[in-house]
Amino acid sequence: MQFFLDTANIQDIKKYAEWGVIDGVTTNPTLVAKEKVQEEFATPKRGSRQKLDSPAGRNRLFEKRIKEIAKVINGPISAEVTSSDAKGMIKEGLEYAKWAKNIYVKLPMNEEGMKALKVLSKKGVKTNITLVFSASQALLAAKGGANFVSPFIGRLDDISQDGMELIKDIIQIFRNYNFKTKVLVASIRHPRHVVEAAKLGADISTMPAEVLEKLIHHPLTDIGIKKFADDWTSIKQ
Ligand code: E4P
Repeated sequence: MQFFLDTANIQDIKKYAEWGVIDGVTTNPTLVAKEKVQEEFATPKRGSRQKLDSPAGRNRLFEKRIKEIAKVINGPISAEVTSSDAKGMIKEGLEYAKWAKNIYVKLPMNEEGMKALKVLSKKGVKTNITLVFSASQALLAAKGGANFVSPFIGRLDDISQDGMELIKDIIQIFRNYNFKTKVLVASIRHPRHVVEAAKLGADISTMPAEVLEKLIHHPLTDIGIKKFADDWTSIKQ
């Protein structure tokens, strides 16, 4: 299973890249908005500063952040479009694809997203269909040629549906027809989600830093490390 970090926070990306287990990164507009990066919003030339709350300002900030991530991560980096029509999504997707060779354009699962998927796939742009909540949506994305499909399991669990059942269904369907589309399990809330997705054979789990951090810990490990250290230093001549 591949591990992606679900964040736009460059410090976290650098920190966990050192563990050697981060294969890629996913971002979305919410994650980018969470970043308090006003200071980092470089003024290109004196007097030409664009306001952060303008579309051009936001785009510059987003481009800067994605390019920073691409300097640290060689694997897939998902960058989400924000236009609501296919024409705008295609324009954004083509632009994002120029930022780095490992950009995956994240498109919403709706009519406009499907139209954009068709055009971008034909042009060789890599894609990730996001906001997937049903097996039929995943099937459509795979038929449309998406590289990744992102089912949001945590948000399904939040409304008392079983997110993991959806993963099981999608994996079965993709196997039945040998679809090349990878199952990118998203909206992961805790380590159990990661383990269950791995047991089902999902291709990728994308998780926030807090979940990745929890994967490493076990109280018996901490107790064991302390005991070994204490016993070692208790050895006397
Ligand atoms: C990743 O691609 C998704 O945008 C993300 O996992 C959504 O997670 P959330 O439901 O916690 O916002």
